[in-house]
Amino acid sequence: MKSESQILAQTREFVKTKMSNDAGGHDWWHVARVVGNAKTIAETEGGDKFVIELGALLHDVADWKFHDGDVTAGPKIARDWLREMSVNDSIADKVTEIVEHISFRGGTNKHVMQTLEAEIVQDADRLDALGAIGIARVFAVGEALGKTIYNPDIPPRSYDNFKAYRNNLKDSPTVNHFYEKLLLLKDKMNTSTGRSMAEYRHGYMEGYLKEFFAEWDGEK
Ligand code: ADP
Ligand code: NI
Repeated sequence: MKSESQILAQTREFVKTKMSNDAGGHDWWHVARVVGNAKTIAETEGGDKFVIELGALLHDVADWKFHDGDVTAGPKIARDWLREMSVNDSIADKVTEIVEHISFRGGTNKHVMQTLEAEIVQDADRLDALGAIGIARVFAVGEALGKTIYNPDIPPRSYDNFKAYRNNLKDSPTVNHFYEKLLLLKDKMNTSTGRSMAEYRHGYMEGYLKEFFAEWDGEK
C-alpha cells in the first residue's frame, strides 16, 4: 500500500513527463501554480487536501486543444493512473470529476462541480488565467495558436457552443480573449476565497488593458 505522500510524489513525476512538451499555456509550471493556488484557497475553504492536490496535479493531463478536440482523453488517462496507484474508488471518482469538467470550453461548460475539492481546483485553475501570470499566458498561448496580438477590425464575440469556440480559435486576436473569456472568470468563481483573489487579478488586467489601448492609439 502506498502512502498519500508517495502517491503525490509519483503523480508529480508522471505529470511532469506527460506535460513537458506542452506550449506555455499548459506546461508543468502551470500545474505547479494551480497546486499552489489550490492550497491557498483550501487554507480558508477546507476540503480534502489529498483529493485537491491529486486533482490539481492531473487536471490538465490531456488538453482538448492538443488532442483534436477530444475531451475524453484526460479523464481516461487520470482514471488509469489512479488505478495504477491503487487509489480507492471514492477518491478516484472525485479526482476524475475534476479532470473531466474543469475546462471552460468557451463558456459552454455548464457542469456544476459536485464537490468542494472540485470547486477549489477549478478556482485555482481559473486564477492562473488571470492577473500578471494570466497576461503572460494568454500571449504565449495566442502565439502558439498562430494568432495576432490585436486587430481593431475584429471585435470580440461570444460563443453559444463549444464547436464555434474551437473553430474560431485562430481567427480571433489574442486581446479579444480577455473579453471572450478572461474578464468573465471572476463572476464564475466557486468559492469566496477564489473570488476575492480573482477580483484582485481582474483589476490588474483591467489596468493593463487600459494602458494597452492608450499605447495602441499613441496617447502616451
Ligand atoms: P480551460 O482549460 O479552462 O478551457 P484554456 O485551455 O482555455 O482553459 O486556457 C488556458 C490558457 O490558455 C489560459 O491562460 C488562456 O488565456 C489561454 N488561452 C486559451 N484560449 C486562448 C486563445 N484562444 N487565445 C489566447 N490564449 C488562450
Ligand atoms: Ni489548467
